[in-house]
Amino acid sequence: MEIWDSLESAYVDRTPRSKECYEEIRNHVPAGVASTYRAWDPHPFIVDRAEGVHLHDVDGNSYLDFDMNNGAGMVGHTHPDVNAAVAEQLDEGTLFTHPHDLLAEAAKELKKRWDPVDLVRFTNSGTESTMHAIRIARAYTGKDKLLKIEGSYHGAHDAVLISKSTPEGKLGHPERPPKLIESEGIPEAVAETVEVAPWNDLDAVEGIMREHMNEIGALIVEPIVMNVGVTQPYGEFLQGLRELCDEYGITYIFDEVKTGVKVAPGGAAEYYGIEPDLVTMAKSIGGNFPVGAFGGREEVMRTIEDGAAHYGTYNGNPLVLRAVTTVLRDVLTDDAYDHVDGLGERLVAGYEDVMADAGIAGHVEHVNSQGIVHFTDEHIENYRDFVEHIDVEFHENYWFAMLEQGVLPHPHDASQQWTISVQHEEEHIEQHLEAFKTVAPQLAEKQ
Ligand SMILES: Cc1ncc(COP(=O)(O)O)c(C=O)c1O
Repeated sequence: MEIWDSLESAYVDRTPRSKECYEEIRNHVPAGVASTYRAWDPHPFIVDRAEGVHLHDVDGNSYLDFDMNNGAGMVGHTHPDVNAAVAEQLDEGTLFTHPHDLLAEAAKELKKRWDPVDLVRFTNSGTESTMHAIRIARAYTGKDKLLKIEGSYHGAHDAVLISKSTPEGKLGHPERPPKLIESEGIPEAVAETVEVAPWNDLDAVEGIMREHMNEIGALIVEPIVMNVGVTQPYGEFLQGLRELCDEYGITYIFDEVKTGVKVAPGGAAEYYGIEPDLVTMAKSIGGNFPVGAFGGREEVMRTIEDGAAHYGTYNGNPLVLRAVTTVLRDVLTDDAYDHVDGLGERLVAGYEDVMADAGIAGHVEHVNSQGIVHFTDEHIENYRDFVEHIDVEFHENYWFAMLEQGVLPHPHDASQQWTISVQHEEEHIEQHLEAFKTVAPQLAEKQ
């Protein structure tokens, strides 16, 4: 990935301490990061602290943050209500491996938001949520295979690390995407338990379901493919999948780790009016605390009482459940959604105006608090469109140019979207747009 010389040297010049710290961390931690996605060239900036809508690095640079911990922070950093609830819990016990009232209290808050959810179990991450939901779906249907969508990400366990970032030369047939294992160390045999389908092509999905109808027990989708920008379902795609799952006896799982509580109070299920069998959640339900959950129809979830395993020492610990109940009850209120959704509209309109004025080809995909600019006029309907039409090198340069202006527009990768938090205000949206306006001529020249 080539970073334009002026951008790279400016970044390196103002992050010498980050470079030093990063080298020291690398002596002790592979790739110098806690999750491999977080390593990038020339070196990531090293965070000193965060508060509100700002992130500060060890070099003294401050960024207006629209990355928000890869979308885990719709409440913004250090939200006073969430911090107060968690601080109170510190003195009352941080881990109980016996049941406690907060389990029901937090579960009830999630059930209020998701109509299809009758019962809930808590986990510690999105990965754990999808891993368990898939197991339970298999147990319920008695069929072992998982069907997933090309380009979708569902966490770091073996069954889902398949065909997430298939390189251009290996894409194969669009209606029958190949199964590509994403990591060394995942047995080839795992690919035999998974089938891969394209997004937004109901006929192709049906073909695969028909061919493997005695084997596929679970379908997992990101109802908006948030690991391929903000790629929405078109037409009746999600409802079509619902009907196909009913027809072929498949448990329908919405992975709402990224969409949950952010695109609507009840996530994409509410936004599109669809009833999946199971929903997985994490990220913004915890207001920057490490928690996940999965829930769904009673009949499916009761398989946990009947042989399908869900275990974990830290599951449902009171510390994170205090965060969950506070976020859902007190912070992400109707007014907060009105506020954030309004800011989202303003940011999108501003981006479109700046691009039009500067003569940059591009458009914004967005749903309420979530959005991404694509520097192409081509519509992105699935992973292949993204691979074909998005110039990730150009996008990365936009990202570094924005950093130079003190704005972190989204996580580092070109496939990732911005998150507008409840602590962002109009002035922050204007600051973001002012930064984009400043860098637009340089982008226009290079496009
Ligand atoms: C849609 C989706 N599912 C699952 C995960 C995994 O969540 P976690 O990183 O908490 O394990 C992610 C992470 O980005 C995600 O985007």
